[in-house]
Amino acid sequence: MHPDTLSVHAGNVDDLIGSVVPPINLSTTFERDEAGNIGGKGFIYTRMDNPNRRALETKLALLEAGEEAIAFPSGNAAALAIAESVLEPGMHLIMPDDCYHGIASLIKNMLARWKVSHTEVDMTDPRQVEKVIQKNTGLILLETPSNPMLKITDIEAVSSIAKAHGILVACDNTWTTALIQRPLELGVDLVFHSSTKFFGGHSDILGGVVIVKKKNAVSQRLREFQVTGGVVPSPFDCWLLNRSLATLSLRLGRQVQNALTIVDFLKTHPRVEKIYYPGLPDHPNHAVAKRQMNGNFGSMISIQVKGGEKESMRFAGRLRIFKHATSLGGVESLIEHRRTAEGQSPKSPDNLLRLSIGVEYIDDLIADLKNGFNG
Ligand SMILES: Cc1ncc(COP(=O)(O)O)c(C=O)c1O
Repeated sequence: MHPDTLSVHAGNVDDLIGSVVPPINLSTTFERDEAGNIGGKGFIYTRMDNPNRRALETKLALLEAGEEAIAFPSGNAAALAIAESVLEPGMHLIMPDDCYHGIASLIKNMLARWKVSHTEVDMTDPRQVEKVIQKNTGLILLETPSNPMLKITDIEAVSSIAKAHGILVACDNTWTTALIQRPLELGVDLVFHSSTKFFGGHSDILGGVVIVKKKNAVSQRLREFQVTGGVVPSPFDCWLLNRSLATLSLRLGRQVQNALTIVDFLKTHPRVEKIYYPGLPDHPNHAVAKRQMNGNFGSMISIQVKGGEKESMRFAGRLRIFKHATSLGGVESLIEHRRTAEGQSPKSPDNLLRLSIGVEYIDDLIADLKNGFNG
């Protein structure tokens, strides 16, 4: 079935009374069958599995075209689960020089304590990735488009380099989702998401997920991290996320359409110093983006505002529909001064603002941006 249909129906199970909307199952424990078999009726204990989590995981695996999905309570937990499942102490990973700062600090601080070393590299050039491969490299992490500079990595090229060296590749697909970009079909082994963003879509659920191309020893380790590590999302969060996924295609379609009009407005605006959007023909990686994204380039835009940090903050503060807040992918438009959100070692230029475009009426969004610049 088409992803638009899957995102509405996949994973929904018949509850024997014909509920069209699956109920939330809050039971932490499940009865044995009449012969006393544990799990005889399909479930044992909710940390191990739960009807709402199973429904969600079924839908997410089908959407991203993987054999199995393992849901977590946040995107960072999903990234940590990958590291724990793929790497051993003494191993090395390669990460992009531009990526979500929370995952960068997970690698630099937490994984370093577990004796996992790392190299940051500009992944817009796959040859640079090959150059930093070590004998003990076990994982290459991709994030494309990257957060917040919207750099594009050639997923197929990096995956084939990794394969030649026997290294696994995991791709953060949060910013596009499988509706725009399908990394598992381009050679990646694991896709992960902060489902807090586009999958959730309403800025009211924290979640994460890893989708594996193949069920294997790594997927078993991921499941162990979830079940035995106890890193599980609640039944309510799974239910809510499952509900949100039904409108993913509608939301994302509108968000991308709004983003295109906003890019058009911003790209020639005299107060904008620089714009970052992979759909623009003069974006340095536009050709790769065109090849590996489905003709849509997402709804995330970064700009540098003339006048430095002071002017960019002033602009963000004058907006009324765009909220100056962190996060992205929801129905409401957000704008964020990234540098002040990046903790102790910020990397973004001091005049960089990241925009997450929502589903509001486009003329209102444009008017808001105009007011912000003119005020
Ligand atoms: C690209 C990307 N990956 C992962 C994460 C982490 O997700 P979470 O906040 O759900 O832990 C974020 C959060 O902003 C993100 O933007």
